[in-house]
Amino acid sequence: MVRQSVKRPQRIEGTLSLPGDKSISHRALILNAVASGTATISGLSSSTDVVATRRCLSSLGVDIKPAEGSDQLRVHGRNWCLQESGSILDAANSGTTMRLLAGLLSTQPFLSVLTGDASLRSRPMGRVVQPLQAMGARVMGRNNDTLAPLVIRGGHLKGAEHTLSVASAQVKSCIILAALQATGETIIHQPAPSRDHTERMLRAMGSTIEEDGLTLTIRPGPLKAADVSIPGDISAAAFWLVAAVCHPNARLRLRNVGVNPGRTGILDVLKSMGARINVEKLHLEGGEPTADLVVESSSLEGVELGGDLIPRILDEVPVLAVAACFARGTTTIKDAQELRVKESDRVRTTVRQLSRLGASIEERPDGMVIHGTGKLKGGQVRSHSDHRLAMALAIAGLLAEGETTVEGAQAASVSYPQFWEHLDHLSKG
Ligand code: S3P
Repeated sequence: MVRQSVKRPQRIEGTLSLPGDKSISHRALILNAVASGTATISGLSSSTDVVATRRCLSSLGVDIKPAEGSDQLRVHGRNWCLQESGSILDAANSGTTMRLLAGLLSTQPFLSVLTGDASLRSRPMGRVVQPLQAMGARVMGRNNDTLAPLVIRGGHLKGAEHTLSVASAQVKSCIILAALQATGETIIHQPAPSRDHTERMLRAMGSTIEEDGLTLTIRPGPLKAADVSIPGDISAAAFWLVAAVCHPNARLRLRNVGVNPGRTGILDVLKSMGARINVEKLHLEGGEPTADLVVESSSLEGVELGGDLIPRILDEVPVLAVAACFARGTTTIKDAQELRVKESDRVRTTVRQLSRLGASIEERPDGMVIHGTGKLKGGQVRSHSDHRLAMALAIAGLLAEGETTVEGAQAASVSYPQFWEHLDHLSKG
């Protein structure tokens, strides 16, 4: 168990390039793996989650190699003809790997077994198993087909109409992947919008996905390999945005950050709390909006968060709870029960760990209530092996009085291996 100690610096200042967006990185590998032709990918995330996807694809026969003389990768697409893996596929801590590959492997005429670490094996998989079974897939899992390991005997699928009960990009993408090889069309009704990286990338690869409000229609068809230049991860940028707005002496430029509207809830929320954040150099990169974010010390007010906003800030809630501790007034987060089935029960772990630093924070069945006090005090906290909690607690430590020790600090590598190095780089004095 790695421990890291954090203290409040005099200033938080500098310019940073974030790691490649994790969600887009998974999709760049997975979609190009089944396309025809070769794709060059630049800016792939080096997170252990994306490494898990890459390893699984390699054991399914996909050739992924560094392009000579550069840090780009080349993926040689297999035009939907993957090979049976000789071993169990390990998604490690990554929900995206397991759920997207479950959709893909349901279409492949061989046996696959997908597993993951203890956290992933306790997360809900019925939400992908059920729709896949409705399309005729033979997928089984522990606990009455609701938990991994999952066993998939892939084969012929038929299009179906699905009404999702959660706004989940992972579930949606799983079904889309299966639908691309099914006969007939597949319709997905979503309860609220979720990130649309899969849809954008598929369009760049020649697929026609129709969108009518919250309903998607997918027809089967081939995919052409497409080069992807991956923007910086806004979910990683979120930690520095909160650090800068809450610190009295801060100014940061975060370069080339992906600002897909499905992901910018963090900007909307912080701005509504009074944060000074500028979006500069906005442009499209491979179908994904990208910009520099310039952020400085601000004075924040509490807010009420809920409804359709939640899927747009779900991964950022732990660090938003830190921001709320430094805001004037009360912040209420509701409709966020999905947080309980992430890498940890993020309602419970966030509330308990921030309480240890003196936060005035209460747990609710579907979220939390935070009374801003303008301060936290250093202490000992635990990451519960949850990357986003480890980093949110580090930001709390960066803003608290005294010293904070984060136990299980290595969890940050699941999405942001450079996190602790970047924290050192931006902390001045
Ligand atoms: C992700 C979707 C979200 C998010 C996760 C990554 C993705 O999960 O929390 O970190 O890459 O599709 P859900 O779609 O299950 O809400």
